[in-house]
This record gives sequence, structure tokens and C-alpha cells, in this order.
Amino acid sequence: MKNKVQNIYNLFLSLLPAFIIVFIIVIFAVVATNLLYAKKSVIVRGYEIKLSPDGKLIKTAEKEVNFSELMKLADVENGKKIFKKCASCHKIEKNAGNGVGPNLNKVIGRNRGSVTDFSYSKAMISLGGKWTKEEINKFITNPKEYLPNTKMAFAGLKKAQQRADVIKYLESVDN
Ligand code: HEC
Repeated sequence: MKNKVQNIYNLFLSLLPAFIIVFIIVIFAVVATNLLYAKKSVIVRGYEIKLSPDGKLIKTAEKEVNFSELMKLADVENGKKIFKKCASCHKIEKNAGNGVGPNLNKVIGRNRGSVTDFSYSKAMISLGGKWTKEEINKFITNPKEYLPNTKMAFAGLKKAQQRADVIKYLESVDN
């Protein structure tokens, strides 16, 4: 009887390494499949990008990222390019004067409708207050919605990151 127990025990001991190896392989396989087949999602400058396991693009969606986050990611060089859309009406250099729209030099923090030699709409003059980055962001999203009788005949920038980029550019110009 004692011998039989001893035999079973010996058999168990000799098989133990095999059990351990199988166990490790199973754990490894589970972890590996999780890593491989998990959907990957990355956020790149205001966009959420979903990738399939083999790296194909599933979808790109504009993510609701709050404005201060977008400002942190804002790209001044891209803002300069986007400003070309504004530049058909606005000059930004200090003494360049006005165009169709008022000069935008140091517009952040400036009183609204305050360029003395520009003739603003009544709507703009009666707005009052100062231009903050947040308010400019809302205004240039859709000027006519923000201020129905504005003279600014511009459809707006629909992409949140583009708005942040252009505001970063407005902020950067210092001459
Ligand atoms: C088609 C011409 C036009 C374009 C394009 C345009 N604007 Fe304007 N903008 C105006 C006019 C006109 C006003 C004055 C609005 C009023 O008096 O109601 C104005 C006013 C503003 C003001 C308020 C300035 C102040 O002194 O109170 C800001 C800020 C502004 N624009 C930013 C922008 C930005 C940024 C862009 C580009 C994304 C842009 N605008 C594109 C014509 C334009």
C-alpha cells in the first residue's frame, strides 16, 4: 500500500514540470490574443482613431475634446496656414490697418469692437466685454449664429482643432 502511494506521488512529481509548462503556455496565449485582438484607439489632436487588430483604419471621429485640451495640442504653424482664410479680410501686423474686417493684432484680451477707425456692425458694438480665446472660439465656429447681425460674412471653421490652431496663431503674433 505504501509503495502504491509512493508510486503515485513519484508519477505526479515527474509530470509536474509538464503541467507547469502547459499552464504557462495557456497564460501566454490568452495574453497574446488579448493584445492582438484588442481594438486599438488613439487620440491624435482632437481625433479619435480606431484601428482593427491588423492595423487597418476602422473609423476616425472628431472627439469632443474640451477647448483647453485642444489649445494644449494647438499647432501654431498650422494656425498660420488656416489664417489665410481670415487674411482675405483681416490683417494682423500691428500697423497694417484694416481690411474688410478690423485689424486683429493682439485681439485676445482686447475690447470687442474697439478698433477706432473700423466701422463695426451695431451688433458687435453692443456686445461689450473683451475677446477671450474661448469667446473667439465660439464666434469663429459660426459667426452668424454667435452674433446674428454681424458684418463678418464668414461661414465659420467647423473643425475644433483648426479653430484652436488659428487662435494659437492669433496669440503668437506679437508685432
Ligand atoms: C469675409 C471677410 C471676413 C473673413 C473671411 C473673416 N472675418 Fe473676422 N471679421 C470680419 C468683419 C467685417 C468683422 C467685423 C464684424 C462686425 O462688425 O460685426 C470681423 C470681426 C472679427 C473679430 C472681432 C474683432 C474686434 O475687433 O472685435 C474677430 C476676432 C474675427 N473677426 C476673427 C476672424 C478669424 C479668426 C477669421 C478666420 C478664421 C475671420 N475673422 C474671418 C470679416 C471677416
